[in-house]
Amino acid sequence: MNPIKIAFFDAKEYDKNSFINSNSNGEYEIKYYETRLSEDTCPLAEGCDVVCVFVNDDVNSTVIDKLYDMGVKLIALRCAGYNNVDIEYAYGKIHVVRVPAYSPYAVAEHAMALLLTSIRRIHKAYIRTKDFNFSLNGLTGFDLHGKTVGVIGTGKIGRIFIDICRGFGMNVIAYDKFPAADSGIEYVSLNEIWERSDIISLHCPLTEENRHMINAESMEKMKKGVVILNTSRGALIDSEALVEGIKARKIGAACLDVYEEESNVFFHDYSNHIVNDDTLARLISMPNVIVTSHQAFLTNEALSNIADTTLGNIKEFFEKDTCSNEICYKCANLSNCNQAHEKKCF
Ligand code: NAI
Repeated sequence: MNPIKIAFFDAKEYDKNSFINSNSNGEYEIKYYETRLSEDTCPLAEGCDVVCVFVNDDVNSTVIDKLYDMGVKLIALRCAGYNNVDIEYAYGKIHVVRVPAYSPYAVAEHAMALLLTSIRRIHKAYIRTKDFNFSLNGLTGFDLHGKTVGVIGTGKIGRIFIDICRGFGMNVIAYDKFPAADSGIEYVSLNEIWERSDIISLHCPLTEENRHMINAESMEKMKKGVVILNTSRGALIDSEALVEGIKARKIGAACLDVYEEESNVFFHDYSNHIVNDDTLARLISMPNVIVTSHQAFLTNEALSNIADTTLGNIKEFFEKDTCSNEICYKCANLSNCNQAHEKKCF
């Protein structure tokens, strides 16, 4: 039997290393492309059975049509979020699989690392002592102990983040569209999250309904000095409103691992360029904003889980009737989806 052919888009050195390791027996023929998948780069998938994509590959309806015409059978996301794939349009044409969890610890720990860095001014202190400046002026932080953190989204990552916060002696309140029964979590309304939280951390997927959930109106309800953490998806926050909130001294600090226009800049070295995105440049210029470029997942453990699960998804899809990590727009209401009967979605 011919090996399954995979067109691997947006390939970085660390991706290649982990997939080469996982594919050490050469079971799959993988073509690595540095470019992202888009309408223009679709032809690179000619002759392939699978396209493997990441968070910023644009898998819109035109791309799906082109892939379908080429005979591509499977879109294998090597990430958890799938807001960059038109899954409703893909339904009935090309199956979509994802890696639902690769290391929720990696993301939750990164969120806490950002929070601690920000409120204890580690990012400032690091630069100062590098320059033998040992002054403490302007580095005063605050204790996390006793503060209230509002967690939005209590899935795998959100719950680990909650456990970490509890370890710090923080009070945890949470909002989830589908609250978990018997979880011991204090669920409150979104309004209460805005009003009661000293720190707000986003751990929910991006959907049409929660796009810009942090906006001028919700910020108005927040405590003065609130710290906002986003390791989820950039468009959960209206970035321009965030800039205004920080300028008005309403928002005390923001820690962003994701940004709504990140696909134009993140994962690339623009250190010798003038960045055209004024909102991002303004945010980065602020002393109480920390930006990391979608790095929260980036641990050795997560990379090797991503590679193993992605190749496992592909194997299951081609060898079995089941496809455990398949997603479709009907899965949200499982009773409408064939997954309920342990079959492929269509
Ligand atoms: P998960 O699926 O385990 O949990 C998501 C939770 O959000 C669920 O409890 C769900 O009920 C809830 N939810 C869904 N819609 C909601 C809404 N409108 N409002 C509030 N809650 C809602 O997902 P997991 O693994 O915890 O990941 C969370 C998010 O983290 C992902 O969707 C992804 O966007 C992001 N992520 C970011 C990474 C990074 O490197 N920065 C890496 C991995 C994931």
